[in-house]
Amino acid sequence: MCGIVGVVSSTPCKTRLIDGLERLEYRGYDSAGVAILQPGVSGEIAKSVGAPRVLREQMVTLESETLENGTVGIGHTRWATHGGVTDKNAHPHQVGRITLVHNGVIENYVELKALLAEKHSESAGSIPHVFSSQTDSEVLSAFLNYLVSEEGFDMDTALQSLPSHIHGTYGLVVIDSEKPEEIWVARSGSPMIIGLGDESNYVASDALALNPYTENFIYLDEGEFAMLAPKSFQVFDAEGNAISKRVEKLPYVSENDGHNGYSSFMAKEIAEQPAVIGRLIRAHLSPSGLKDGSELVALRQKMLGAENIHIIACGTSFNAGLVAKYYFEKYLNIPTSVEIASEFRYRDVAIPPKTVFICVSQSGETADTLAALRKANEAGYQATISLCNVATSSMVRESQGSLMLQAGVEVGVASTKAFTTQLTAFLLLAFALSECEATKKLLLESLFRLPADCESVLNISDEIKDRAAPLFQESQSCLFLGRGEQAPIALEGALKLKELSYIHAEAYAAGELKHGPLALIDDVIPVVINAPGGALTEKLAANVEEVNARGGRFLVFSAPGVDVHSDNQVDIKMPELSLVTAAITYAIPLQMLSYHVTVLRGQNVDKPRNLAKSVTVE
Ligand code: G6P
Repeated sequence: MCGIVGVVSSTPCKTRLIDGLERLEYRGYDSAGVAILQPGVSGEIAKSVGAPRVLREQMVTLESETLENGTVGIGHTRWATHGGVTDKNAHPHQVGRITLVHNGVIENYVELKALLAEKHSESAGSIPHVFSSQTDSEVLSAFLNYLVSEEGFDMDTALQSLPSHIHGTYGLVVIDSEKPEEIWVARSGSPMIIGLGDESNYVASDALALNPYTENFIYLDEGEFAMLAPKSFQVFDAEGNAISKRVEKLPYVSENDGHNGYSSFMAKEIAEQPAVIGRLIRAHLSPSGLKDGSELVALRQKMLGAENIHIIACGTSFNAGLVAKYYFEKYLNIPTSVEIASEFRYRDVAIPPKTVFICVSQSGETADTLAALRKANEAGYQATISLCNVATSSMVRESQGSLMLQAGVEVGVASTKAFTTQLTAFLLLAFALSECEATKKLLLESLFRLPADCESVLNISDEIKDRAAPLFQESQSCLFLGRGEQAPIALEGALKLKELSYIHAEAYAAGELKHGPLALIDDVIPVVINAPGGALTEKLAANVEEVNARGGRFLVFSAPGVDVHSDNQVDIKMPELSLVTAAITYAIPLQMLSYHVTVLRGQNVDKPRNLAKSVTVE
């Protein structure tokens, strides 16, 4: 959710710290802060509301020797959970000897605060800390300070004892002012990684922050914590034993560094879809079928004999799961259910025999989906499988099998290429599991033409900008309708539009129109419909008639030869496309629509207000 970077070095760390925060900005961007130390000399904190760029500018005006030349630093880019977006609530938080940055939520912070007050009242001469922020993280600083200053704990014993005091989650980087030449990191429910460099060691919530400085990473597992100094480090397990960990190589990919000539990450990521979808397909299929080395061979084994599939996800990934239900029931005849992760994790679950659990996630770190996977691992499913874009993520590590999306880093908060590669991955899975030659042939043919189909859809971007986006320039509200696989695509279209443009957008299976949403229809609210052709076209046309009779106005994306006519409509013709992959290809104009509407309304397509890319708190 929030982003963390830490550097412990023998040379000034400021640039690496701020650059790292900027690379993590997509995880949260309401405020940012750093604490920088010159060990043995001085320490200083700088914070500002806004993105790390604002902090960088502010630090220049401060003209601080410590901020410029300090060699040990921790930084944070925030997505507010406890307390509003203010300088005071921004991290780092400093209490006594402790300065820390924190990702996650301390659920029992009120009790901890009360406990600290009680301890202070019992101890003569002790001065209670006056909290200056509304955050749970400052309470955590105060608690750690209490452990090291008043209970006499060393930092390793303090961090080891934290889980017994804390309800909630944390990814934590801490500096103790009495040992300013080292930083400490701890993981409990929020990912943290260590980067190993020459004369510098690093820590971050995401390898992306550190990738320009090192290719050598250690992934902390749950409960582990570590000490880092410029030329040494030590990892400890949850019991406090010093342990050695595997160092993993993550080659530097310069394409992750910017939007490469595009005006935004979203524009770049939309345009990349033909290439990344093609790469994913070619990784698994040759024109004659499944490749020998494909991960799908092992997944087919795990899913052999499955009688049910249960799919869990959040956000856009959930919408991908809804499409997969159509695929699995149509091509495999396997009953499939799809559920929001935050519901699944807290309810009593009845699991039919031979059920395979699939979690879908771009990041592989979404807190609710990860918790759902952990529950599923305990619950006796035939197998737990993750569809994921990050090979080193917690979900990939913890599921019994996984299929990588290979979409490359997705930075835009609104998911685009991860969504279409999720749908492609589901079709690949259907291909791998199918026993029917006709189905396999159909899927193979459609998948091999899919990259070219996606490319041809990108060509209508200007038409969407000129003819479709202006319909929404002044809109307060709009409706997306679809039938069959296009019903979940309508949901995804509405999600994309609302999260980026802040226009209220709802989506319905078109058959539900008369059960409520028809009451919204007037001659102002735009109604968006995908009409790719196929068996449901007449039914869709009848729904269009129902809206038309009430004076509604439409934006229709239709296949050549498909006419769902109404009196007041903008009809944008799609190219000739395979119907088998129409959920994928018809998602793209809706992405482009959201993009152009958002640009037209002057808002940020990459960083919508209040949202974050990787939701590691529940
Ligand atoms: C956030 C992002 C969405 C994403 C959702 C699930 O809300 O803004 O784009 O769909 O999380 O994330 P995941 O990484 O699990 O796919």
